Amino acid sequence: MPNTTLVPLLADGEFHSGQALADALGVSRTAVWKQLKRLQSLGLEVESVRGRGYRLAGGVELLAEARIIAGLEPSVRPLLQALQLLETVDSTNAEVLRQIAADRGPGFACSAELQTAGRGRRGREWVSPYARNVYLSLSWEYQGGAAALEGLSLAVGVAVVRALHRFDVEGLALKWPNDILANGAKLGGVLLEMAGDAAGRCQVVIGVGINVAMPTAAAGAIDQAWTDLTQLCVGKPPGRNALLASLLNELLPLAASFGTTGFAPWREPWMALDAFADKPVVLHSGEQRQAGTARGVDERGALQLETTLGVQPIYGGEISLRAAP
Ligand code: BTN
Repeated sequence: MPNTTLVPLLADGEFHSGQALADALGVSRTAVWKQLKRLQSLGLEVESVRGRGYRLAGGVELLAEARIIAGLEPSVRPLLQALQLLETVDSTNAEVLRQIAADRGPGFACSAELQTAGRGRRGREWVSPYARNVYLSLSWEYQGGAAALEGLSLAVGVAVVRALHRFDVEGLALKWPNDILANGAKLGGVLLEMAGDAAGRCQVVIGVGINVAMPTAAAGAIDQAWTDLTQLCVGKPPGRNALLASLLNELLPLAASFGTTGFAPWREPWMALDAFADKPVVLHSGEQRQAGTARGVDERGALQLETTLGVQPIYGGEISLRAAP
């Protein structure tokens, strides 16, 4: 992990002279300059102006536990067992799985400034640059194994949209099974991972990634149309701490109640956000293609694909959905 001790000094977005930064850290100006170069390689835009010094254009809001906790609703606070904020981690999902293996109970949340091996669906990388986006993972425990989790990832998509609506983000929709779209481009994603007994007591990690201010350089690695909250909120995205609090305000009650309610109360809200409702689609599963019309989801969260053979349920896994050409 590159040295990021300069970031808190530059977080205010104001100019700081090289000498002032060197004095604050007790290092040479050359060392400061090297650190600034490393910050640039992390995707942070360091501006340098002769006679004024250096600044991070727009500043940066680092993750702060007190600010996230302060944003939690009183009824939600008891559901959070612990919140772990890391500067760098391979994947917050992987970290929560490790915590589960070490007997952490439900309601454990983890977020990080940077993921070095962020996980996306279908084995893809989730592009996770430093201090720009939101990466959140949350654990919960259920009886009844995988069957009890049917539809949970779709319900999480609805909860994420509700968390974003609290900041008046417009144009949001869901793509089956659980992409978060804005104006047709990918704003975020959900990745559920399971541990424990597939037929009995099991733990689930709910992983959510939201693009807040994706640096252009990092975005080169994204292989689909994407957007971020900076574009959607015309340069004024919600702060990452407020966004994390909002996500937890929606996700913790969902996680806590899902074992009792299942997907039933989430089906209609999901259908109301369905980006592909009644649209012609092609399902991709490995090399296979299946064309049809998307007719929402059933009570288990399966996509209802209408073909010449009738309507058939499509369950999650290695299937992706694209508008038919
Ligand atoms: C997708 O491919 O759409 C799912 C992306 C999920 C990304 C999030 S970021 C937080 C959590 N940690 C991970 O490694 N992945 C999920």
